[in-house]
Amino acid sequence: MSNSIFALEASGVDVAYHGNPVLRDLNVQVRRGEIYALLGGNGAGKSTTLNTLLGFARPDAGSVRVCGIDVAADVLGARAQLAYVPENVALYEHLDARENIEYFLRLANTASTDDQIADALRAVRLDESAWKRRLGGYSKGMRQKVAIALAVARAVPVLLLDEPTSGLDPQATSEFNALLQTMRANGAAIFMVTHDLLGAAEVADRIGFLDRGHIGHESAASGADRFDVRDLYQRYAGAREAA
Ligand SMILES: Nc1ncnc2c1ncn2[C@@H]1O[C@H](COP(=O)(O)OP(=O)(O)O)[C@@H](O)[C@H]1O
Ligand SMILES: [Mg+2]
Repeated sequence: MSNSIFALEASGVDVAYHGNPVLRDLNVQVRRGEIYALLGGNGAGKSTTLNTLLGFARPDAGSVRVCGIDVAADVLGARAQLAYVPENVALYEHLDARENIEYFLRLANTASTDDQIADALRAVRLDESAWKRRLGGYSKGMRQKVAIALAVARAVPVLLLDEPTSGLDPQATSEFNALLQTMRANGAAIFMVTHDLLGAAEVADRIGFLDRGHIGHESAASGADRFDVRDLYQRYAGAREAA
C-alpha cells in the first residue's frame, strides 16, 4: 500500500495490441467520493482502459494503482478493492437475484447473511417483487442493479462501469444516476466509460476525453449549471475527429 490519496490512478500508461498503440501516456486519477466519466468514440480505447485498470491488459509503460495497490505487483489484491460492471452484465440466468449475490460472494470468499444481501438489494432499489425471479427475465437495468448490489455487499471502494446507460430507457437511466450519486455519497470512487456525453454531464464530477490514446482534456463540474454542455460537445467532437 502507498499513502496515495487516489482510489484509482493510472500514470503514463501505454497499451498496444499487436504493435498498434491504443493507450498512449494515459493519466487518470479518481478520488473516493468522486464520479469520473471517460468519454470517447467507438474504438477510442475506453474498454481497453478498463481492462488495464482490472489487470487484464498489461501496460508496456506506466503503472496502475487501485487504493494504492500496484496492479502489476498484486493483481488479486487490487481486484479485491473493485467491482466491475461490464456493458452486458453476465450473471446466472437461472438463479434469482439473492442467489446470484450469494453465489458470487462465496466465489470471492466473502461470507454473507440473508440480511446483508437484502440490504444490498434494497440499497440499489431493486423492486422487492423481483428478488425471487430468475435473472433470465430481467431487463438490462435490473441486471445492473444486481451487479451493483454485489459491489455494495462486497463493500468495495472502487466501481468500474462500461457504457452503463447504453440501452437503458430514461426512467432506468435516472434511477441509475441516482444510485451512483448515493454510492458517491457513501465514499465510492466511480469510474465510468461512455460515449453518452449528456448522461455523463448529468452525473459526473469530472469528464475526461480520450483522444489518440490519452486524456486530451478534462472538465470539472462547477456551479449551478454543472457543465457547459456546448463546450463539452465541441471538445468531444474534436476528440472524435482526431481519434
Ligand atoms: N483484445 C484485443 N486485441 C486486439 N485489438 C484490440 C483488443 N481489444 C481492443 N482492440 C482494439 O483496440 C482499439 C480500442 O478498442 P476498445 O478499447 O474496445 O475501444 P472502445 O471501448 O472505446 O470502443 C480498437 O481499435 C480495437 O479494435
Ligand atoms: Mg468499449
